[in-house]
Amino acid sequence: MAIFTSSTQDIPPAAPVPRHVAIIMDGNGRWARKRFMPRVAGHHRGVETVRETVRRCLERGVEYLTLFAFSSENWRRPEEEVSLLMQLFVRALQQEVERLDRNGVRLKVVGDLSRFDPQLQSLIQASEAATAGNTRLTLTIAANYGGRWDILQAVNRMARSMPERLGQWTEADLAPCLSMSYAPEPDLFIRTGGEERISNFLLWQLAYTEFYFTETLWPEFDAAAFDAAIASYQRRERRFGRTSEQLLAGDATPPSATSAGDTANA
Ligand code: IPE
Ligand code: IPE
Ligand code: MG
Repeated sequence: MAIFTSSTQDIPPAAPVPRHVAIIMDGNGRWARKRFMPRVAGHHRGVETVRETVRRCLERGVEYLTLFAFSSENWRRPEEEVSLLMQLFVRALQQEVERLDRNGVRLKVVGDLSRFDPQLQSLIQASEAATAGNTRLTLTIAANYGGRWDILQAVNRMARSMPERLGQWTEADLAPCLSMSYAPEPDLFIRTGGEERISNFLLWQLAYTEFYFTETLWPEFDAAAFDAAIASYQRRERRFGRTSEQLLAGDATPPSATSAGDTANA
């Protein structure tokens, strides 16, 4: 199977364990405030939950874990919080990469990295390079990431690389230009912290992802909470446009579900 699967072009094989889990780690600030601590204490605890979540994914055989760490809109936060978040990111990279490598984890960072200071940018590059050969789990950190930014940079890349096809571009042309083209689309999306919104996370890639929202704050998202999300996923019927009856008959996976828009100019 190709690494990139597009849910609107092909139907991914059904599997009990989601191959790709994408998480909006929300609620750190509220977790800290509830304890009369500064918001940054919540971010510190949040890093521990990241470590544990990676371990859980390794144990359960999840192949791709994508974590929203800093959105393109999070620059609007107080300068002090932004700067502390950056420091925390640097420290986490310095401290965790060796352990990730030992556990067969490949690290990727996606987002508009040009806005980060050069030191952080080279640390990211070095961390990615150090773990590039690992295949057990791909951990993607979305940092200064925005779903709209991603689609736009992909369109611009596509336009530059095949200007002669203007007016005839297809999904298949765009998909490899997206920043996470190395991963299949997420099977399961989780947002902790009680809000039920996407907040400009993976807009393109979530087309057929199963959504799971929980009140649990990110620092409290423990093994039981993670397993509850997986269990909820396992109860879903992923139809990808087909009927229940087709799924029950078990014979209804057409080789390709190419949309009319894409075939018109193919
Ligand atoms: C998520 O927790 C972490 C980041 C956005 C960096 P928040 O900081 O948004 O926590 P709440 O939503 O204020 O509780
Ligand atoms: C989304 O959380 C971004 C991250 C978790 C990094 P926010 O807390 O920034 O989202 P909003 O502002 O409540 O939508
Ligand atoms: Mg929040």
